Amino acid sequence: MLVLGIETSCDETAASVIQDGRAILSSVVASQEAVHEKFQGIVPELASRAHLETINSIVDEALLRANIGFRDLDAIAVTRGPGLVGSLLVGYLTARTYAKVFKLPLVPVNHLEGHIFANVLNKPDLKPPFLCLIVSGGHTELVLVDAFGRYRVLGRTRDDAAGEVFDKVARVLRLGYPGGPHVDRLAKEGNTKAYPFPRPYLWENWEFSFSGLKTSVVNFALGKSESIGKPPEPVTDAFLKDVCASFQEAVVDVLVAKTVRAAKHFRMKRVTVGGGVAVNSRLRERMQEACIKEGLSLTLPDRAFCTDNAAMIACAGFFQHKASKARKTPTAVAPDLAVSSW
Ligand code: KG4
Ligand code: ZN
Repeated sequence: MLVLGIETSCDETAASVIQDGRAILSSVVASQEAVHEKFQGIVPELASRAHLETINSIVDEALLRANIGFRDLDAIAVTRGPGLVGSLLVGYLTARTYAKVFKLPLVPVNHLEGHIFANVLNKPDLKPPFLCLIVSGGHTELVLVDAFGRYRVLGRTRDDAAGEVFDKVARVLRLGYPGGPHVDRLAKEGNTKAYPFPRPYLWENWEFSFSGLKTSVVNFALGKSESIGKPPEPVTDAFLKDVCASFQEAVVDVLVAKTVRAAKHFRMKRVTVGGGVAVNSRLRERMQEACIKEGLSLTLPDRAFCTDNAAMIACAGFFQHKASKARKTPTAVAPDLAVSSW
C-alpha cells in the first residue's frame, strides 16, 4: 500500500511516500528557518504564506523521488493538528483537494501520533505496549501507547515545552535559531556541573514544568541572578559552553528520570522518544544509559525523523487506514491525544 504523507503543522513543509507503512520511498522537507531566523521565532502568518508557496512543488518532488504518480497511491495522510491554524489549513486543504481529484481516502493524523510513529520507521517490528516521551518545540508529554490508536497521556508540561526552552535560552545567549542544535553543539565542550540550575521534577505526578528553569538561566545570563552569581565580562566562549552544558543537563536529568520512573511504574518494558528534542545528543546518550541500567529496551527515531517530517505522518496514516479497512468502517478520525485540535 502506497501512502502520501503531508505535514505543515509548524515551519516545515514536508511530503513523503511510504510503502506498506515502513519502507520510505521518499521524504522531502523544506525548512523555513531562513524565513523566521531574523525574528528568532516562528511568525505564524509568514509560516502559512511560505507553506502556500512551496507545498505543491514539495508534493511533486516526493512523488518524483518515489518514482510514482498520484494514480499509484492508495491513500493520503495529512496532519490535522495540533499546530498553527493557518499552516495546518494549507496542508489539509492541499491534501483534501488531491484526495478529491484522485478519489483517494484522506487520513487525518494527529501530529503527536506522527512523532510516536517516527519510532516505527526505525524499528518496523515495534509493537505496543510501550511508553513514549514526546519532546518537541510545542509539546512535552509522556504517553502510554496501549495499542496503535489507543493512547493514554500521563502528563504534559504545565508551561513551556522542552524545545521552546532550548530556543528561548539560545535567544538570550544570542546563539541563533532554532536554539536546540546550537546549545547541543556548545554543550559538548562545556562543564555540566558548572552552574546549579534547578531541576523541576514535580515528583508527585507525571507532568513537567520548564519555565522556572528557563527564567533561572535567563536571569543568570543577563547578570540578574543572586543565587548563581554573575557572568564574566566580557562573556567568553568557555562561559557560554558551560551555561549550555549545565542548562541542557538540567533538562535531560528531568526528562530521563521521569520517563524511566513512569516506565517502571506502569510496567512498560520498552521506552521510545519522539519530537525535535529527541535529536539532542545528551538526551539520547543519557536515555540509553538509564534504560540499560533499568533493564528497559529503548527505541530512538533516526535524527532526520525526530524533527517535523511527513514520513512519520504517512506511517501513522498507513496504520490508521489499515485498521479502519479491517473494521470495514470509513477511515477513522485520528485519535485525540487530549490536545486541542482545530
Ligand atoms: O518536532 P519539532 O521539529 O517541531 C515541533 O513539533 O515543535 O521540534 C522542534 C524543536 C525546536 O525547539 C528545536 O530547538 C528542537 O526541536 N531541537 C533540539 C535539537 N534539535 C532540534 N533541541 C535540543 N537539541 C537538539 N539537538
Ligand atoms: Zn513536531
